[in-house]
Amino acid sequence: MEVIESSATMRAWSRAQRAAGRRIALVPTMGYLHEGHLELVRRAKAVADVVIVSIYVNPAQFAANEDFGTYPRDEEGDAAKLREMRVDAVFAPRRLAPSPSSSSSPPPPPHETYVTVENLQRGFCAITRPHFFRGVATVVCKLFNICDPDVAVFGKKDYQQWRLVERMTRDLDFAIEIVGVPLMREEDGVAMSSRNVRLTPKNRLACRAVSVALEGLEATLMAGGALASSLQTIVRDAIAMSGGEVDYVEVVDQLTLRPVERVTAGDKVVVLVAAKYGDVRLLDNVEIGGE
Ligand code: PAJ
Repeated sequence: MEVIESSATMRAWSRAQRAAGRRIALVPTMGYLHEGHLELVRRAKAVADVVIVSIYVNPAQFAANEDFGTYPRDEEGDAAKLREMRVDAVFAPRRLAPSPSSSSSPPPPPHETYVTVENLQRGFCAITRPHFFRGVATVVCKLFNICDPDVAVFGKKDYQQWRLVERMTRDLDFAIEIVGVPLMREEDGVAMSSRNVRLTPKNRLACRAVSVALEGLEATLMAGGALASSLQTIVRDAIAMSGGEVDYVEVVDQLTLRPVERVTAGDKVVVLVAAKYGDVRLLDNVEIGGE
């Protein structure tokens, strides 16, 4: 497994693979890898000849007051996991995107070009993190240009991000197939996330309420249709009762992420949730009516 830090070397590596007729998959990550990430790698291996995993904690998607500095990191552990999975290349650039701007820090490095996905970058996670999706779209665009993959694999755990990347890829004519992998859960149902390690033991238990409530929704719907607002109330109440703080609970169309009023049999919707337990913000969701 090659560990590559420079963009020029990464590009040359990809060109050589392409010249040899190999299909390249890219799995973008911010490291501190868990089973959810590894599932993406497995999928990448199944659909391509060679796999690149990028590891880059992207400063452009953190605001100055967010956890960029304390985001968990484990370069050696990550490399060991990826080596064991026989990943072909790890792209771990030292610097790729501008840092979050703040009046107390030095001015950001010169970077004037950003990618914005006009509608999908609004709402949900963007309400509390307005800078977030511009940072994601820009860095993913850069990774696509440097790694030049045929296919790129994203997790549906970050549902809005996945749809936004799909849309950006289509709108900007990248010849890249975007694959979405189902959300992976811990044994007790909690959505896997690098940030789970920062939950206190009490909150780690309490946050099970999120996935339990989401799991219960399908059963509620089996009995017939339901108002989106009633489904939202069920999930909101369950989170509040467990001591969590609801950021948002929304029932939306799976493709457009536009809110729906009523869910009836056969509708393809997704219930998107963000909630805070202590200072850890967790995302979860459930697709209803199939994928
Ligand atoms: P990160 O949070 O490290 O996640 C990397 C990829 O793993 C994303 O596609 C994410 O959706 C997926 N993932 C994380 N937890 C998952 C789970 N429990 N089940 C399924 N997939 C899961 O998302 C990012 O990094 C960044 O925003 C990035 C796309 C790398 C851009 O900087």
